[in-house]
Order: sequence, then structure tokens, then C-alpha cells
Amino acid sequence: MLEKDIEKVLVSEDEIKEIAKRLGKQITQDYQGKKPIILGLLKGCIPFMSELIKHIDLYCEIQLMGVASYHGGVSSSGDVKITKDLDSSVAGRDVIIAEDIVDTAKTIEVISKLLIHRGAKSVEVATLLDKPEGRVTPFEPKYIGVKIPKEFVVGFGLDYDEYYRNLPYVGVLKQSVYKK
Ligand code: IMP
Ligand code: MG
Repeated sequence: MLEKDIEKVLVSEDEIKEIAKRLGKQITQDYQGKKPIILGLLKGCIPFMSELIKHIDLYCEIQLMGVASYHGGVSSSGDVKITKDLDSSVAGRDVIIAEDIVDTAKTIEVISKLLIHRGAKSVEVATLLDKPEGRVTPFEPKYIGVKIPKEFVVGFGLDYDEYYRNLPYVGVLKQSVYKK
């Protein structure tokens, strides 16, 4: 059903599993003796965050925040809206933001600043995908699954107009789907 709208698979289910394992191990090593908060940015974070936390062997807390920056299109509006705020304090805490993708880095910039403003001790980013060509502000996530070219992708949390998040892989969406 959904597959007919996909041009090609960019990151397979198996590759995603390997990425989550690698990043989870790295986070476990880097945060020894700490109790970080893994903060997922809804809704795109859900599949990747679920996969990632299986491989983090630490006393960590899970928190969620709702953030929207696209308003139905295929490019970031740059206007980051918080649709669901945190329900506990981040003061004095080490926070690792779990993201599906970093593109312009606007979302990360706004959320990181907010967390620091609220007293977070440290803020790092773990992202499944990185689109470095999309940056409008310089930013290098500490934990990157895979760098991808500047193409519009869907699946494994990433949506087009709220659909395709449930695809088990990341694929390039056929242009015919959004150029109507
Ligand atoms: P940024 O603020 O431009 O870095 O964008 C981050 C957010 O934009 C991500 O959390 C995604 O929700 C969305 N996004 C960026 N690139 C894509 C894409 O190729 N497909 C779907 N969503 C995307
Ligand atoms: Mg999103």
C-alpha cells in the first residue's frame, strides 16, 4: 500500500537496527556514572527512540516533548512550535535529544536553547538521519546514525502530511505524491 509511493529505500530496517545498537553503545560509554534524560521530540522520534533505548545500559529517564516545524509541506518553516511541553524539570540534568532527522537545525537550536535556559547541565543530540546540506545554522549532532543527501524522506517516524511514519525503513518519497 504505502510502498507504491516510495522511490527508493535509503536506510533499510536492518541498517536502522545496527545504527541504534552503535549509538546506544556509544551513549552508554559516554554517560557512565550519569543518569541522563533521553528526550524524544514527538512525533518523529517514536520508532527511533524505541529502538535506541534498548541499547542504552544506564539509569536513564525518558521524556517527551511535542514539536512541529513543518506545516504540511516538504520544507521546514523555521517556525518551531511546541505542541506538548515537558512535564518535569531538566534543571541540573544531562539531556540527550532523540531526533528522527536534523535538517536546517532550527528545531534543535530552539529546543537546546530552551533546555539550557531551563538549567539543563548538558544537551546533546542523537539523530537517526542528518541532512548536513540543509543547515541554516551550523550544527553538528554528537550522535549521528547516517548522513543523507538533501532529499525528502519518509518512514521510521518521518512523515509527509502525517503519513508514512509507520514504514519500517527510510525511503525517498516519489515527487508525484507532493507535486500535484
Ligand atoms: P529542522 O528544524 O529543519 O532541522 O528539521 C527538523 C524536523 O523537520 C525533523 O524533526 C522532521 O520532523 C522534519 N524533517 C526534516 N527533513 C525531513 C524529511 O526529509 N522528511 C520528513 N520530515 C523532515
Ligand atoms: Mg517531524
